[in-house]
Amino acid sequence: MELKIAILPGDGIGPEVIAQAVKAVEAVCRRFGHTLSSASAPVGACAIDEFGDPFPESTFSLCSRSDAVLFGAVGDPRYDNDPSAPVRPEQGLLQMRSRLGLYANIRPVRTWPSLLDRSPLRAEIARDVDFVCVRELTGGMYFGEKGRRDGSDTAYDTNVYSRSEVQRILDYAFRLARMRGHHLTVVDKANVLETSRLWRQVAMEMEKSYPDVHTDYMYVDNAAMRLVCDPRFFDVLVTENTFGDILTDEASCIPGSMGLLASASVGGRTAVYEPIHGSYPQAAGKNTANPMAAILSAAMMFEYTFGLSGEAEAIRSAVALCLENGVVTSDLAAGENACSTSDVGDCVAEYIMKGTI
Ligand code: IPM
Ligand code: MN
Repeated sequence: MELKIAILPGDGIGPEVIAQAVKAVEAVCRRFGHTLSSASAPVGACAIDEFGDPFPESTFSLCSRSDAVLFGAVGDPRYDNDPSAPVRPEQGLLQMRSRLGLYANIRPVRTWPSLLDRSPLRAEIARDVDFVCVRELTGGMYFGEKGRRDGSDTAYDTNVYSRSEVQRILDYAFRLARMRGHHLTVVDKANVLETSRLWRQVAMEMEKSYPDVHTDYMYVDNAAMRLVCDPRFFDVLVTENTFGDILTDEASCIPGSMGLLASASVGGRTAVYEPIHGSYPQAAGKNTANPMAAILSAAMMFEYTFGLSGEAEAIRSAVALCLENGVVTSDLAAGENACSTSDVGDCVAEYIMKGTI
């Protein structure tokens, strides 16, 4: 198969971790006989530097022409403490999501037996955690009307959802639950927010069409607690954009490092695969960042975009073997035992080629 992939490394550690994901994709192509045809484009702060635009038209056009996008991270400390910056790197990511119609963000959370002692949770709580967060990605406060009034000393962000936006993400989540453990948790704040009441109303109507899925409803504050007290409760968790952003950062700690969490953003013709961590500017260029999240995002790409689950599994097994063998970066290994970003990438590629499954 020919794989047309747009590579958007972005800022900070993005280029380093994406280079390892590309190595894994190349190894899969060699082992399974696929052809990779890839092209890179700038996004985020590096695109602002080059084009004055965090998501230039040429980058959008490359994405639209590709089957899938491998995305690193965006962000730059130059913008962090400057609320008046007219353009920001993060806008590149938000524009990409919106323009490519990526309304569903899929963030699987699992633990690895070999890393249970790295989890901030006790091993008996972290063991066998395996759930998927489905985060709505193109609505809510992120995209609602926002601004300043009263001489700019009052600010607002509007949380808006239409029935059709709610329906399409819930439909995705119900179907995913059907393919997994048949348990869907709808997370909202329906005791306070009108948007949440609409979500709950629509979910309760749709629930009837999925009698094989056990559906429950949970307030977001309670879900935040449940994620750390009893994460095995969850199978598929669906929620709106802002709640999903916060809960998935929380959930990302469970396996032991945020550097292990992959994601897929789907809904349009071209899906985007990205690690859930950010650009981590302090580590940029040091060859120390954990590339596993980017590599596992490439595994999701094989499965979701190309329907090649054997190829996805080859990557996941290679990652699991590295973790078992202690081939890990400093977020997971102590001092001298830590491997570099590129060493981990080389080892994953080697295991893929050798065929660990
Ligand atoms: C994420 C990130 C983004 C978000 C930022 C960088 C805009 O935190 O992908 O979770 O808030 O969606
Ligand atoms: Mn986030």
